[in-house]
Amino acid sequence: MRKWNFCAGPAVISEEVLGEVKEELLEWGNSGMSIMEMSHRSSIYDQVAVDAKNDLIEILSVPESHDVLFLQGGATQQFATIPMNFGHTTNEADYILSGSWSKKAIAEASKVIKVNTIASSEDGGGFNYAPDPSSWKFSPNASYVHYCPNETIQGVSIHDAPNIPKPLIADMSSVILSAPIDISRFSMIYAGAQKNIGPAGLTMVIIDKKFMADDNEDLPNILRYSKHAASNSMLNTPPTFAWYMAGKVFKWIKRSGGLDYFKNQNNLKALTLYSFIDESDFYQNPVKVKNRSIMNVPFILKNPSLDAIFLKESESAGLLNLKGHRSVGGMRASIYNAMPMEGINALIDFMKDFEATNG
Ligand SMILES: Cc1ncc(COP(=O)(O)O)c(C=O)c1O
Repeated sequence: MRKWNFCAGPAVISEEVLGEVKEELLEWGNSGMSIMEMSHRSSIYDQVAVDAKNDLIEILSVPESHDVLFLQGGATQQFATIPMNFGHTTNEADYILSGSWSKKAIAEASKVIKVNTIASSEDGGGFNYAPDPSSWKFSPNASYVHYCPNETIQGVSIHDAPNIPKPLIADMSSVILSAPIDISRFSMIYAGAQKNIGPAGLTMVIIDKKFMADDNEDLPNILRYSKHAASNSMLNTPPTFAWYMAGKVFKWIKRSGGLDYFKNQNNLKALTLYSFIDESDFYQNPVKVKNRSIMNVPFILKNPSLDAIFLKESESAGLLNLKGHRSVGGMRASIYNAMPMEGINALIDFMKDFEATNG
């Protein structure tokens, strides 16, 4: 029996999508084989790949100026390939430090180029807020500015896309497709698929074509964005099954009402959960209100000696993966697009009961 899965990633996928995939698993269309067994160069697979790309372009209103790439290696590989490709002109870039993932991006980029951490909310290690874009002071020589709009571990967000003069690159792994975004503000957006897009193994990149044209030609082809773009993300064998499933998720988003629908749903879900936490004396969310994530909601029990029993009982109640990241402790409910309001209500009902028994 399927339960409510609050995992940060790989994360819940719509049951409707999983049902379709199940139906098609043994034979895709009239091809005589499953999608997994098919050449990525076949005309049948090509249609699946092109449809997925076009649907994503439609959902996100990706402008003509930008290309969409379906890559591998996860967001972590992007931490390395971004400075390799786009840091080489000045050997310098500006980074914003707002949580564990931007910290990792900085550590990786620092091996390749000079990183200027131009704004940080690490004060005391807490990351309970994000540095406001109005406080970012850019370095004259920075080739680009990198930030993470949604820190999955701390549940800290910078909600509005900054409008800045430098090429802007964003790690949108845990926030992409949760709401409409103005793609034109970004030179590059990247995201591991395993939260709002589909199964792990696929990495989405949306990149300004002019920006991409200046990537580093000394790199091996597999590390260059322009080479992937020139071969329609089929420089080598792509993650065909994950790409196909992402296409299914994009179609599900479209028929559900697109990103405006999900934005409303996600805001409602998050507001309901945060309001409950704020009204309680038993639970607490440490993040500054304006930086609260709508995708990842961390919370602590004021009495941490109850953590283990909370996790055990929540699991028995059918609420899975509520344990906070090992680096921060406490709890975290990841409430991506595929988590319906019913799941939030089930979580709140459990939290109320647990408080009544243990408070
Ligand atoms: C914001 C963010 N960036 C990067 C990563 C790393 O992604 P991957 O495991 O795909 O390399 C994650 C994973 O959870 C993430 O949430």
